[in-house]
Amino acid sequence: MKICCIGAGYVGGPTMAVIAHKCPHIKVTAVDIDAERIAAWNSDNLPIFEPGLKEIVEQVRGKNLFYSTDVDSGIREADIIFVSVPTPTKTYGIGNGRAADLKYVERCARHIAKAAQSDKIIVEKSTVPVRTADVIKRILDESDTSVNFQVLSNPEFLAEGTGIHDLENPDRVLIGGEETEAGQKAVQTVASIYAQWIPRDKILTTNLWSSELSKLVANAFLAQRISSINSISALCEATGADVGEVAMAIGKDSRIGPKFLQSSVGFGGSCFQKDILNLVYLCEAFGLSEVAEYWLKVVSMNDYQKSRFSRCIVNKLFNTVSDKRIAIFGFAFKKDTNDTRESPGIYVCRDLLEEQANLAIYDPKVPSEQILSDLNGNLDSDGKYGDASIEIAEDAYAAAEGAHAIAVLTEWDEFSGLDYERIYLSMRKPSFIFDGRNLLDLAKLRQIGFDVYGIGKSLPAL
Ligand code: UDX
Ligand code: UDX
Repeated sequence: MKICCIGAGYVGGPTMAVIAHKCPHIKVTAVDIDAERIAAWNSDNLPIFEPGLKEIVEQVRGKNLFYSTDVDSGIREADIIFVSVPTPTKTYGIGNGRAADLKYVERCARHIAKAAQSDKIIVEKSTVPVRTADVIKRILDESDTSVNFQVLSNPEFLAEGTGIHDLENPDRVLIGGEETEAGQKAVQTVASIYAQWIPRDKILTTNLWSSELSKLVANAFLAQRISSINSISALCEATGADVGEVAMAIGKDSRIGPKFLQSSVGFGGSCFQKDILNLVYLCEAFGLSEVAEYWLKVVSMNDYQKSRFSRCIVNKLFNTVSDKRIAIFGFAFKKDTNDTRESPGIYVCRDLLEEQANLAIYDPKVPSEQILSDLNGNLDSDGKYGDASIEIAEDAYAAAEGAHAIAVLTEWDEFSGLDYERIYLSMRKPSFIFDGRNLLDLAKLRQIGFDVYGIGKSLPAL
């Protein structure tokens, strides 16, 4: 059996590596139009940082895992084609700011229709609006070949940073297909791949539309929990309750459960906001305005949380950060990834730059060019941002040196192990720490002399 995946990104890249690793009898080829990305996949410097990924790629690359820019051959050779190209939020025309932009998915379908010379199973890996499989099928069926196509939905639930673990030990695998004999046969073919390492009872099969919708709904529910606990963090700060204690107390209720109750500076990542906006757009398109409004609140609460954090920094620093140095600890949207898409760090940094702060940013994995391009707004050639500036620091100590404040925006493990006495001595006084991830021991930091602020914590007077 031969598999091809179109799109070797954060989802396609690791997913294909794990399939190749678990199924030595299957030839897996990940193709991408981005030649630089493919060259990186074929080098020692993979384009994506994901714990455990490099080790797997090194074991199977060149044996049964290949990365290539030759999309045509990839399509022609494969029995099964996974489509894992972006479906970003539209930034133009009808549905601007809400609907998913399906141009890449449609382009893939047209490419497959043109290149295919034998029967294929097409698997939607990309997160798509409900009934996208219909669009793909229409395009494929209109092609002037006698080739038969089956379109399946097999959404990916991996989270970045734990992607390899999630792929190897998923809570479930979901495969949706047409309720015809050929559709069900295709579902079983794809199920048999996952069954090489995943127990059968975790491989769920549904109809196409349930599978497509379940992915949007899973992300909406997860994001909703974060917005819910973040809304409560604001109330905790006002009342003297501690959001960590509240989360622990409610999480012990087995009906609620303890996961995804970590209050933060806001959720980021390429999926949550995009998928909720997509869900909202779908609801609006079907005339369900109350449902749309309900889910839209999850996104607006997240926006509120991000801006609340930057406003707090400005307030505590005597209502001005103009010309003050602020050390930013972490820029990725969460730890253990180099991904910055929709990272709360981007929003907080932009707010602070608007207030004319001088930022010294340190992230252990995000390349400096990425940080600068995320903040490019009106950056001048000399790294100035109007009256503000951005410096990319070598490490956390260098970022903090001479700073008025530190803002922790990503929960990288290394930030909890730093020598904060040393950091305190190197900073301007009074020295502030704003912990946007509730990672640090605030009581200890206060003893050292820091002015501290934690999300959802109202600290008693010393
Ligand atoms: C993507 C989708 O964004 C997401 O909706 C879906 O759930 C999974 O696939 P991700 O892998 O994180 O997520 O995206 P990205 O890292 O941007 O990778 C997509 C890759 O597709 C890029 O490398 C891009 O070059 C490639 N691509 C894009 C193609 O090969 N062909 C295209 O026509 C468009
Ligand atoms: C998410 C889903 O978890 C995954 O199933 C789906 O396939 C893609 O979208 P991802 O975006 O990679 O995965 O990371 P996730 O761990 O879900 O975190 C998303 C954001 O929420 C991060 O910014 C994270 O820091 C934040 N978060 C998460 C919180 O603020 N609090 C929490 O309790 C959990």
